[in-house]
Amino acid sequence: MQNVILIGFMGCGKSTVGIRLSYRLKRTLEDTDKRIEREQGKTVSDIFAQQGEESFREMETQLLRRMGKEPAVRIIATGGGLPVRKENRVLLGRLGQVFYLRAKPETIYERLKNDTTRPLLRGEDPLGKIKKLMRERDGAYEAAADVIVDVDGMELEQVVQKIAEAVTP
Ligand code: S3P
Repeated sequence: MQNVILIGFMGCGKSTVGIRLSYRLKRTLEDTDKRIEREQGKTVSDIFAQQGEESFREMETQLLRRMGKEPAVRIIATGGGLPVRKENRVLLGRLGQVFYLRAKPETIYERLKNDTTRPLLRGEDPLGKIKKLMRERDGAYEAAADVIVDVDGMELEQVVQKIAEAVTP
């Protein structure tokens, strides 16, 4: 049995889908952002503000390396920028089956327009920022993915169902 890994842009539903999927598949859920926050004793926003994005990216890579040595029976929800590093994509591929929850920029914008926890989307023109980042990242997400699930207009349970059906035993 291998890990089930959820990747995709901020707000695509990785954490929420991960929780439902963990009940459904009876596996524990690990969330890379939450684990980094726990280990560092501060929020992702504080890490970005105090140490910069690059330090956070290094923490993500180090965490993936460590996870490779842990039991591979989990659901792993990842931070939205994690698959951008090529090394991380290789590590993800070794960790398990990778599902890309793909969403349109407008869907992401609607979900995150009142959110204050994503440092990369703060300030002017969040929709413009989402579109630009997504253009830059889509190729990386696709390259990392074993399965792509288009989540626009889908109910949470439908997304969970699709993934559950596609998980290799
Ligand atoms: C980021 C996404 C966030 C978090 C950090 C950076 C990104 O995770 O890791 O704010 O670069 O897209 P979510 O995808 O869970 O929001």
